Amino acid sequence: MNGRRQTGPVEGDRYRTLMSGFPTGVAVVTGIDGLGEPRGATCSALCSVTMVPPTVLVCLTAGSSTLAAVRERGWFALNLLHAGARSAAEVFSSPVDDRFARVHWKRLGTEGLPWLAHDAFAVAECRVSELTTVSTHTVVFGEVMDAELADEPPQPLLYGLRRFAAWPGEA
Ligand SMILES: Cc1cc2nc3c(=O)[nH]c(=O)nc-3n(C[C@H](O)[C@H](O)[C@H](O)COP(=O)(O)O)c2cc1C
Repeated sequence: MNGRRQTGPVEGDRYRTLMSGFPTGVAVVTGIDGLGEPRGATCSALCSVTMVPPTVLVCLTAGSSTLAAVRERGWFALNLLHAGARSAAEVFSSPVDDRFARVHWKRLGTEGLPWLAHDAFAVAECRVSELTTVSTHTVVFGEVMDAELADEPPQPLLYGLRRFAAWPGEA
């Protein structure tokens, strides 16, 4: 560790390396677009904000078709992926048109939000409470209105150090 100082913001690669040392779980954020079609994107920029009301945030890039659907309907689902769902994470981060044809999914709840039935160990239905744009990304705050949880303790999929991993056990 050195104590070097610089005047401007840290450059992109250094920032990426910095944040790669902060592993996260992996989710697929899903929504329904204006034509009633499912949309979804892999997302690791997700965190819990408040307990009361139960609120999460996700950050989605401005050009995201999933973000457009979330904005339009005002609802999204958070599909929390298990360790066996790496291929779903790859499908929902790749530029293919038929993402939902490559996974098993069902419509959930009154909003009919897409639930990745085989890949998610838990799913939360969220109502958008606030949207804030920061540079290239939009931060979407959602109030968790309902949640389905697996009976078994989950083994989440992780992403960090620029690779996928499974929950590794006790520290
Ligand atoms: C592990 C992983 C995490 C990602 N996290 C995010 C994220 O938090 N926000 C985001 O905008 N894109 C994220 N992406 C990239 C999107 O999944 C990707 O750009 C996707 O194609 C967006 O789809 P859409 O434009 O159809 O919504 C991530 C990709 C991977 C592989």
